[in-house]
Parts: sequence; structure tokens; C-alpha cells
Amino acid sequence: MIRNARRCVFALLLAASAAALPCSGVGSHSAQAQEAISPRQIANVPPPMGWSSWNSLAENVNFNTIKAQADGLAALNASIRSGAKYKYLNIDEGWWTSGLRDGNGDFIINVAADGKTATNQWPGGMKAIADYIHDKGLKAGIYIDAGPQGCGKRTDGTHFVGSDFAHYNHDFLQFARWGYDFVKVDFCGGRQADYDPLQAYMAVSQAIELAYAQTGQLLTFSICDWGTIGKSGTPDADEGPWDWGAGVGTMWRTTGDIYGPHSGAPKFAKVMRNFLGNYHPEGQHTGYYNDPDMMVAGMGMTPLQDQAHVSLWAIAGAPMILGNDLSKPLSEDTIRLLTNPDVIAIDQDRLGLQGIKVAESGQQQVWAKLLAGKGQRGVVLFNNSDTAVPMTFMWQQIGLDPRRQATVRDVWGHKDLGTFVTSYTAPSVPAGGAVMLRVSGYEPRAKFVQPDKQAENLGTAAFSGVQSHTDGGYVEISYVNPARNTLRATFVTNDGHPTRLALPPTGTNGRPGVVIAFADLKPGSNTFKISASDGAHSGLKLDSIAIVPGPVRSQ
Ligand code: GLA
Repeated sequence: MIRNARRCVFALLLAASAAALPCSGVGSHSAQAQEAISPRQIANVPPPMGWSSWNSLAENVNFNTIKAQADGLAALNASIRSGAKYKYLNIDEGWWTSGLRDGNGDFIINVAADGKTATNQWPGGMKAIADYIHDKGLKAGIYIDAGPQGCGKRTDGTHFVGSDFAHYNHDFLQFARWGYDFVKVDFCGGRQADYDPLQAYMAVSQAIELAYAQTGQLLTFSICDWGTIGKSGTPDADEGPWDWGAGVGTMWRTTGDIYGPHSGAPKFAKVMRNFLGNYHPEGQHTGYYNDPDMMVAGMGMTPLQDQAHVSLWAIAGAPMILGNDLSKPLSEDTIRLLTNPDVIAIDQDRLGLQGIKVAESGQQQVWAKLLAGKGQRGVVLFNNSDTAVPMTFMWQQIGLDPRRQATVRDVWGHKDLGTFVTSYTAPSVPAGGAVMLRVSGYEPRAKFVQPDKQAENLGTAAFSGVQSHTDGGYVEISYVNPARNTLRATFVTNDGHPTRLALPPTGTNGRPGVVIAFADLKPGSNTFKISASDGAHSGLKLDSIAIVPGPVRSQ
């Protein structure tokens, strides 16, 4: 965090009459600066969208209950007019009731916790239900704990069972062979066995890579240690998963459970706790996501709270994993909330970035998300007070040219609101509710800067004199990774706390790919160091770096 630096300071304006303070000017660019060439956005995994069994079924997972949910998810998808749909149907804890393995270490299924009584939980085995899910046009997800003891309890009161270091290679290969596409790895057993989260999840990640090499089936990896901070003396001392998660997994939980199936209706206070606890924009970047947990819209909160909840998940670019019981009809309101293509498009935007808070005053906040395409922004005006208020935001707060016109669309109302200059005022944001907008305006062009120093094949590059005019901002990193796998790199801004980048392959033709990350910039001149974490001969080469205009964080 930069203190005592010149900053762009904007207040949240609750009335259109208030004025914004001007931003400090852009400094002159270094000698190496050049106009942007058209950069190449890497193909990336958008925040996973799907459904998970825990919140509505708890341990009651079997072929029939999962089949009914798969049918329900396919039906819900049919209500999405265009764009991305819910993809993953994830079986959470409870599928491996026996907790036993055979002589090969394979999971014994269709036997109760007593190890004797036959059940018919999974006729045809775990592959048959994955096949059923695939036949519905969905992808299949499964679950295990990183440590030997599961989180939940079986009907006889004993704990479910998980994996452990000795079984990772076997277990993730088994999931891949069964045809699963996604795995959530919990940490109750990991914590109980005193595992270090980073060590355990790195070993799981490697097991997933090995399974991919052997089967061609890649499991999307969801890390679930609820934001555990590593103990001193461990590889992730004082770090949470947002510090190391990118490239170890695709997404990582940042907070405790938003809801439990055995604990009454969902509460909006928990939704807010998880949303705010998930705010680590510097920890994620294109393709790798902070995860504030499964969604609870349509499960007992008020319609306004549900709408605020979905708006906040979408502006955060969070995984949209539902927990509703889809075997029963959803209300029209819930269907409307979960199937709005404009809202989903903001969540799934291909830059894959978390929205940031650009203004706050009392109980009102403005959140904004940098979207793909010049001058595109998602905006949420959130009013957590008990009176409806007008709310205003300025183009400067979302990184758009204040002198030029921008168009504003109300994405919940499916309505173009018109063209405005400098700012937009929503006349009334309901008490405890949110207004969600897509704004299209003009932004200055980015300038690319080449590295000062680069040790080729060591994958280390340094950049200096990179000019910013905001405190915090977006950095577009152009790189070449000729390897076949994603390479991880450490990214240090102004000698601050390192964050991680995961840089997917860019192919062998030498053309660079691009990812965007949020960095702790200071106004004026900035330095960056990027070093490969995956060994000396990675072939990773940094091509250029640019600060791109985007929403400006509020302090
Ligand atoms: C933990 C996880 C939940 C769910 C349960 C299952 O609490 O955080 O999301 O998977 O375990 O027991």
C-alpha cells in the first residue's frame, strides 16, 4: 500500500451537484515507450459457472438425486437466451460413503459406512453418473478432502473420509478416468492433519497434471481452504490462497461457508461477509479467480437481497456456482435473476478480472469491473442502508474520458438509459439493493514499455519508469511461453509484496499472449519484476508491459 502519495481522490457523490477533484496528470513516458500494437488476449477459463450439491442435498447424494439436479440445471440453461450458461454439475461431499479402499487403493462405493451393508447409491458406478451429466450437455464435478478426514458426517455420526499425500496421484487419476472435469478439494482433513495448505494443494495440482498427461482429461481445480493463512515456518507463512492460488488451481475459496444445509435460511450478512472477504483483486488475474462461495439467491432472502447478491458476484467476476434445489420449480423471480444474459456476460467477461471498489460513502458503494473491448465497464451501485437514495459515479472513477460521452445500460431492467457526459446518476437505488449497469465510453490508449533487463530462459525481467497516474491500476503483461504447460511467475510491483501470475502457453510461433493483472501502482514512475517460478529453463520471455486505463480504486 502506498501512503502519502499523490492520489486521484474522488468522493462517492450522492447528489449530482458535488464535484470530483481532478486526477494528477500523466507523466511523460520512458524512452522505450511505444504505441500499443494489437495485443493477443490468451484463451482463458472464465469463472466457472455451475451447480454444487452441498447446499440443497447435503450428504443425500446418489444417482437419482444428482440426475434430478442435472435435469433441472439443463432446464434452467434453456432459459438463458444467449451467451454463457451453467456448465458444471458438481457432486460435493457424501459420494464416497464407505470411506474404504480396495487392495488397489480404489474407492469402494455402493457400501455403507459400516463397510458391509450394500447400498445402491451409484448404480453403474461414479462413471455412470458422470456420463449422465455429460449427456445433458453439462460437465461433471466431484469432491474430496485434501486430508484423511472429511468435513461432514455420515448418517452413523462418523466423519466422511478424504485423501492424503500418499493417495493424491491415485485419486485424481481415478477422477480423470471416470471422466470428471472438475474437482473441489476441501481442507477439513488437511487442517485436522496439520497440513500446510500450499504444500498440499501444490501436490494435488501436480497429481491433476499427471492425470491429465495420462488420460487427456483435465480437472478444473477448485481449492477450498476458506482463506486459511499459513502458519510461520510454512511455505505460505502469513499468506492466504489469493497470494499463491493462481496456477495452482483455477479458483480458491477466500472465506468460510456462506450457508450450511443444516442451519436455516441464508442470511444477507453472510453474503456481505463473503463478498468483502473475497476482495483480493491483486491476487487474481485473467483466468484465475477468488471464490466467495456458492450462491444462495432464491433460497430464502428477499428479492432485493437476492438481486444485490447476484450483482455483487457478477461484478466480482466470481465463479457462479448455484446451490438451489433444482429438482423443484424455481420462482419466476429466481429464474429471472439467475438467467439474465447481460449480468452473466459481465461475470464471464473474457478479461477475467475482479471488479474493484471505486467509491464509498457510509452505506453506499460503487463497484466497477474492467471489461473486454475499449471503454467497456460493468458498474454496481450498492445501497446497504435502509432508505432509497440517488447515487452518482463519475467517468474518471471508472477510467473513462470525462469530457466524452458514454452510454449507460441498465442490465437488470434490459434498458438503454441514454448517453451522458462526465457522470451518471441513478435516481433511486433501493434500500438494501443494487443497480447494475454496463457503461461504454472512451479511454486513452495504453502505452507499452519493453523490459530494461531480461535473463532469457531464466524468465526474469525488470521494467522501470512505467508511468501511472493512479494509485493502483491494471497492468497488461505481454509474454511468450513456448512450453506446453502454464508457467507460474512471481510479480513484484515497486518492491512490494509479491503476487503470482499463471501464464498459459502461447504456442511455438513466438507471438506473445496477454494477461491483465491489478497491481499496487503509485502515481508517477513504477518498477516491476517478473520471474519464473518453474525452474531455470522455462523459456518464458516477457515482451512488454503496459498500464491500461481502468476503474480507479477508492481507499
Ligand atoms: C466445507 C466446505 C463446503 C462443503 C462442506 C461439505 O464446509 O467449505 O463448501 O463442501 O465442507 O461438508
